[in-house]
Amino acid sequence: MTRKDLRTDDNKRLTVAEIDKRLKSFLGKRYLPKDCLTFSYKRLGSGHYGAVYEGHLRHPEKCFQNTNGSLVPTTPVAVKLIKTDSVCQLNRKMVYQEIKVACELDHPNVVKLLYLTDGAYLKGYDQLMMVMEYMNKGSLSEYAKKYGELSNPEKVCHMLKIMLDVAEGMVYLSGKDIIHRDLAARNVLLTKVEGGGVRAKVSDFGLARILEGNYKLYRVNKDELPFPWMPPECLVLDPSDPENIFSSKGDVWSFGILMWESFSEGTLPKKVLKPLGITDGEKLLAAYKSNWRLPGDIIRCKEAYNLMTKCWQMEPNRRPAFVELVQELKHLISKLEVTKGGK
Ligand SMILES: Nc1ncnc2c1ncn2[C@@H]1O[C@H](COP(=O)(O)OP(=O)(O)O)[C@@H](O)[C@H]1O
Ligand SMILES: [Mg+2]
Repeated sequence: MTRKDLRTDDNKRLTVAEIDKRLKSFLGKRYLPKDCLTFSYKRLGSGHYGAVYEGHLRHPEKCFQNTNGSLVPTTPVAVKLIKTDSVCQLNRKMVYQEIKVACELDHPNVVKLLYLTDGAYLKGYDQLMMVMEYMNKGSLSEYAKKYGELSNPEKVCHMLKIMLDVAEGMVYLSGKDIIHRDLAARNVLLTKVEGGGVRAKVSDFGLARILEGNYKLYRVNKDELPFPWMPPECLVLDPSDPENIFSSKGDVWSFGILMWESFSEGTLPKKVLKPLGITDGEKLLAAYKSNWRLPGDIIRCKEAYNLMTKCWQMEPNRRPAFVELVQELKHLISKLEVTKGGK
């Protein structure tokens, strides 16, 4: 898709200036003026919807205040470039609207979305750019790999605290009726906090729906489906079945998978599924129906595995809610802290 192909809802072409004007008026304070972002080509990673680069942001209000010639301080940010193929078939206005709403969310365990802008920086107005807070410790999947075996109560406790952060972020999002739909260790990011600890934040919430329009579309590209994280009720799609929708309890199932990744040194479920011949959602659903679950033998913390299996109840209503998971995690952490203290 080229910039000339951008069209209005009634299929009229838009000029570059019109796109800019529309974006500005629609996004208001969430529109980032061009001279406020220094875009670096340092790639932080890439995924299903596009690539993430490092950038430096000058806050729009402060942009023109450097009268003495000194540079206004910048803040490091992460800039997610959204692949246009995921967007072009959809109503852009809806995409802007959803992301604008996401910009208003504010919680210590949710990655802060700061601005939305187009790809004028890259001479391509067909790009959507999401500017978000920079998470300097990367993704939880990478972190879990590097953190290594959870061989002592301190390490288990540390990982449980990260799980607690994620669950708290999910309590906030589900309270706002936001369903993540793609909760996985790769979509939890970490940042250093003062005093040497780390804080985990949930990212990419709702992107699956925003960008793919609806769940049916999300499933078209079968090869790219993150089926190992999906709850059973979504694994085999029957469009006529109104029950076949993602709910917050679907996110709870995925949270269990995320916990399993985190407590198995960042192992991907695929590694277990492939040798068993489970290569698609249908086969995985059949396995779940016969009571199969991701194995617990590689999880050293039995209480943590027990919590995962609670998230993997076939019946969504029997899974705990995120508020209950928060309570259970707090309980486990305090129990472990007593053990550590009593050593
Ligand atoms: N806000 C951010 N701050 C720092 N790094 C990020 C941020 N967002 C994403 N990344 C990096 O970019 C990678 C790719 O992210 P993403 O495009 O969401 O793909 P995926 O979720 O499939 O890994 C992440 O794994 C992470 O390392
Ligand atoms: Mg992601």
